[in-house]
Amino acid sequence: MEHATGTRRAFLKAAGMAGIAGWAARRAGGLAPAVQAARPRQKIILDVDTGTDDAVALMFGALHPDLELVAATTVNGNVGIEFTTENTLRVFDHIGVKVPVYRGMAAPIVRSDFPSPRTGGSPFHGQYLDLPASRSRVRETDAVDFLIATYSRPEGREIILVPVGPLSNVAMALKRAPRIVENIPEIVLMGGAHEMGNVTASAEFNVWADPEAAQVVFRSGVAKLTMVALDATHRAQVSREDAARLRALGTPAGTAAATFIERRVQGYMEFDRQARPAAPVHDALAVASIVNPAVIEAVPAHVDVETDGALTVGRTVVDRRTRSTAKPNARVALGADEPLFVRMLLETMGRTAPAA
Ligand code: BDR
Ligand code: CA
Repeated sequence: MEHATGTRRAFLKAAGMAGIAGWAARRAGGLAPAVQAARPRQKIILDVDTGTDDAVALMFGALHPDLELVAATTVNGNVGIEFTTENTLRVFDHIGVKVPVYRGMAAPIVRSDFPSPRTGGSPFHGQYLDLPASRSRVRETDAVDFLIATYSRPEGREIILVPVGPLSNVAMALKRAPRIVENIPEIVLMGGAHEMGNVTASAEFNVWADPEAAQVVFRSGVAKLTMVALDATHRAQVSREDAARLRALGTPAGTAAATFIERRVQGYMEFDRQARPAAPVHDALAVASIVNPAVIEAVPAHVDVETDGALTVGRTVVDRRTRSTAKPNARVALGADEPLFVRMLLETMGRTAPAA
């Protein structure tokens, strides 16, 4: 599958731009280009701790015409596993798609809790998403078992794994069935930070929340690993005006995305004392980068994870030294194209699910 990647990415890049052009044409009352109908779709699995930005990522994955969202697996993170699972079901019910949801790890792989315990909802996410209670049901199979089964088969080689929460499910699957790494074509994860953390000065939340799991993933030897770091997501902010444009689309996804992004903007204004009313929508950027790699700027580097330091637990140590002899094990996204990301969001959230 490695891959297909040069070709796939070039194709998807062109196709992604065609999609945007199609949306612009439709908004202007014109016709979408015919190329849209016959595009092959990239399969993905989203591993989520839903969460407002996870919710936008899920809608992006479910609605973008170049993607086939095979399943969502849930993990403890922004909120507890019962909430992340229910929230994921709510998102799919709201936009009218039937994507299987598997409940995963309720705690980190080694620790009994995060490095320092957190209680209650978060200002950026709340506990339950602001959507009606779910009607669909979670699958009975556990998320880790599902990942192991999926990547034990050769067909798994067609599915990019996209973790946008703590890496507990992915690491547990790799620990229990190490050989599945051979069938994972690519991992595109949202997590980590080079310049500045968020939950601590050193660490980004997803890696900090289960540092031993993140270490397993970065040391796994997976064929291809992209780390969409805070450095990139904070350079692709979505503003209050953009949220109003999303709402004006009038679609279920546009309306929900607007509500979630407005909440995020409010949270970032209060807690990060941002100068402008805008917020990163971290997890959606990771998914967008699969459709159009130009939305991020990535450099190859060796990355490892600190699991011990009192001040640095959960830090992703990105080796950017020119003298380094460490072989790169990841592409690290440190920049992003904000206008392109916003255009992609508008285009995708303007879509509705095909009638069942
Ligand atoms: C990451 O942490 C979570 O709060 C978000 O959903 C995102 O995945 C950003 O640090
Ligand atoms: Ca997340």
